[in-house]
Amino acid sequence: MKLILLGAPGAGKGTQAEIISETYKIPTISTGNIIRAALKAETDMGLKAKAYIEKGELVPDEVVIGIIKDRLAEDDCKNGFILDGFPRTIPQAEALDTMGIVIDAALSIEVEDSEIVKRMSGRRVCEKCGASYHTLYKKPIKDGICNSCGGKLVIRKDDEPETVLNRLNVYHSQTEPLKDYYKAQSKLLLVEGQEDVKDTTALVLKTLSEI
Ligand code: AP5
Ligand code: MG
Repeated sequence: MKLILLGAPGAGKGTQAEIISETYKIPTISTGNIIRAALKAETDMGLKAKAYIEKGELVPDEVVIGIIKDRLAEDDCKNGFILDGFPRTIPQAEALDTMGIVIDAALSIEVEDSEIVKRMSGRRVCEKCGASYHTLYKKPIKDGICNSCGGKLVIRKDDEPETVLNRLNVYHSQTEPLKDYYKAQSKLLLVEGQEDVKDTTALVLKTLSEI
């Protein structure tokens, strides 16, 4: 399966991608995680992206398109993949089409802005492997410690309330139009994000089983 996950920042794309990835045995490609890893390693690309990501702005299209092109050429993508956080603009979606990538579906997780703001304040991420937790909804086994790698859980820099509001504005103006783009290709699937991760997962897996 070749799947795109759409949705506002904090809608639960990363959370659901993890489960879909296990269920369908396909890799998740998260441009956000790739950029954050580059930022940490201080590569050229990471340094270029730093100012954008920290303000909650989108990194320039050519940078992320380059990342995706390289990543999709890797062996583990042959049987399918989940794109978490890409495309984020119409030119990025067009680039995917130009690459000859035919996706099966673009699934959008729909969550109200007010709910997003509440969720982001509780998110904690592993500074080592990037795994995501929540102080109320997805607690780690040991306080402040990642279940899978033992890394320290920290607050993401772009989860500060002001940056979250900017990310939401950017989402509505630049990314949400992708829903119409994939609707026109009859590829759009909508799932209402639920308050509980498990309930969202049940709806997501049911929707995917029907395609
Ligand atoms: P990216 O890392 O993609 O972040 P984002 O999409 O803005 O937002 P999130 O990762 O917060 O959303 P998510 O939907 O994955 O939520 P999660 O599952 O973690 O991008 C970051 C930045 O990188 C961008 O701002 C941009 O600068 C740059 N970038 C990346 N891709 C780019 C591109 N293609 N083009 C240009 N720039 C790009 O869930 C959030 C929290 O809620 C978690 O704590 C989780 O545990 C909790 N939660 C999840 N589901 C539920 C639920 N159902 N109920 C309660 N809590 C829940
Ligand atoms: Mg994410």
